[in-house]
Amino acid sequence: MDKIFTPELKAKADKIVALYETRRASVLEVLRLVMEHYGHVTIEAEEAVANYLGIAPIDVHEVITFYTLYYTKPKSRVRFNVCRTLSCSLLGGREVLSHLEEKLGLKAGEMHPSGSCSIQAVECLGACELAPMLQLNDDEFIGNLTKEKIDELVKKVM
Ligand code: FES
Repeated sequence: MDKIFTPELKAKADKIVALYETRRASVLEVLRLVMEHYGHVTIEAEEAVANYLGIAPIDVHEVITFYTLYYTKPKSRVRFNVCRTLSCSLLGGREVLSHLEEKLGLKAGEMHPSGSCSIQAVECLGACELAPMLQLNDDEFIGNLTKEKIDELVKKVM
């Protein structure tokens, strides 16, 4: 029995795979399912997904390391994903990121030892009209950021 794909998880994955023309094409959604179930995707889980889909483990690893929305380690309670791509950078994204790093005492890519928060510099989040912007946790997007707005946000969520 697969340690990652429990019968319940496999049944859910089977339904996802059935929606795609090829098993390989479902890799993003199957990884999302595994991450929702376990909170993050370990190397063992990557291998299990590769075996399940019949693709090479490196193909799964490339996906996991390309998209910043997949977590390979346990997530912090509060996650600041700050956009570092062109529109945001041109409109002050770097200053916003530096201010947040200073405020939390963390660098982008780091998690507080307590697990309370983390900062990640990410590629375009598809909301350039809100530049400079960040994603808070999984589903909140906050734009037109300023240092003052960062101060308010940190006060609110920390
Ligand atoms: S460049 Fe930042 S959201 Fe697109």
